[in-house]
Amino acid sequence: MSTRIVITGAAGFIGSHLAETLLDLGCDVIGIDNLLTGDTANISHLQQRGLPPPQPAPAGPIPRGDFTFIKHDVTNYIYIDGPVDFVLHWASPASPIDYLELPIPTLKVGALGTHKALGLAKAKGATFVLASTSEVYGDPLEHPQKETYWGNVNPVGPRGVYDEAKRFAEAMTMAYHRYHGLNTKIVRIFNTYGPRMRVNDGRAVPAFMSQALRNEDVTVFGDGSQTRSFTYITDLVDGIIRLMRSAGNDPVNIGNPRETTIGEIAETIIRMTGSRSRIVYRPLPTDDPKVRQPDITRARTLLEWEPKVALEEGLVKTIAYFRTKVR
Ligand SMILES: NC(=O)c1ccc[n+]([C@@H]2O[C@H](COP(=O)([O-])OP(=O)(O)OC[C@H]3O[C@@H](n4cnc5c(N)ncnc54)[C@H](O)[C@@H]3O)[C@@H](O)[C@H]2O)c1
Repeated sequence: MSTRIVITGAAGFIGSHLAETLLDLGCDVIGIDNLLTGDTANISHLQQRGLPPPQPAPAGPIPRGDFTFIKHDVTNYIYIDGPVDFVLHWASPASPIDYLELPIPTLKVGALGTHKALGLAKAKGATFVLASTSEVYGDPLEHPQKETYWGNVNPVGPRGVYDEAKRFAEAMTMAYHRYHGLNTKIVRIFNTYGPRMRVNDGRAVPAFMSQALRNEDVTVFGDGSQTRSFTYITDLVDGIIRLMRSAGNDPVNIGNPRETTIGEIAETIIRMTGSRSRIVYRPLPTDDPKVRQPDITRARTLLEWEPKVALEEGLVKTIAYFRTKVR
C-alpha cells in the first residue's frame, strides 16, 4: 500500500510543490486548505492525476499517487478516513502583507491549527512535520543562525503575530513529542522563492519581479543593505523529504546560506528581466530583520542536504512563471 500523506496548506506556494513531488514519488496525498491565501489553480493539475491511466496502462515510471483535495479550515477538527502515515502542517499566511492583514487567523492557524493537525497525527500514529520559519529567530543577534539560537522576537510588534504563532507551534509540537511520544519534525524554512508565488504577496522576489516586468519603480525598503538568503523551491522540497525520512526530532534549518542584500537582488532582477525600472527607497517596516542567513551544519550532517540551485538559475525559472502572470 502506498504512503498516505496529509498536507495542510496544500493550495499554497510550498504546499502545492510538496504535494506534486510526493505524488511523483508514488505517495497518495490528501491536501487540505481553506483557500485563505492559496488558490486551487496551484493544484488543479494534481487533481487530474488521480484519474485511472488510459488503457492499456503505459509501461514506465512509478504510477503517480492519488490526490484528494478537501476545502477545510484546519483551526477546526480535522477528520480523515483511513490510515495516514505523515501529517505535514503547512497551513498559515506566510508573507508579511498577508499576516499583517490577517493577524488573528495567523495566530489561530499557528495555535489551534497546529493543535488539530497534531491531534490528527496522534490519532493515526502518523509522523508530524511542522513548517516553521527563520522568523522564530526574529531580528537575530546571532549570525548566521544555528538551531540552538533562541531568537530575538518582539511579541507585541506587528510581526509578532506570525513569529509568536510559529514559536507556539514549535512548543506545541515538542509537547506532543515529549508527552505523547509522537514522532515529530520541525523544519525552519528560510526565504524560499519559485513559481506559484502570488504576484502581489509582497515578498521581495515577487514584488521586484512584478514591478520590473511592468517597468515600474522597484521599491526597496530601507537602504537595501539588509540581507536575506533565498532558497529555490526544489531545494526546499528536497530538504523536507529528506527530513521526513530522517531520525531525530530537533528543529532543522533549511535554507540557502548564500547571503544576498535586498539591493543586490533588486538589481539582479532588473537586469535579468531586461527592465527599464529604477530602484526607489522607502522606510524599513517595524522590526524588519537586518540580517538573515542559516547555519545549515545540522541539515548537512543529519540529512546530507545541500542547496543545488544557483540564485540566477532559480530566478530564470521564476521570471518565466511571472511573465505568464504579470499584466
Ligand atoms: N515561503 C517561504 O519563504 C516560507 C518561509 C518560512 C516558512 N514558510 C511556511 O511555509 C508554509 C507555507 O508558506 P507559503 O509560502 O506556501 O504560503 P501560502 O500563503 O502560499 O500557503 C499557505 C496556505 O495555507 C492555507 N491556509 C491558511 N490558513 C489556513 C487554515 N486555517 N486552514 C486551512 N488552510 C489554511 C492558505 O490558504 C494557503 O494555501 C507556511 O506555514 C509558512 O509559514 C514559508
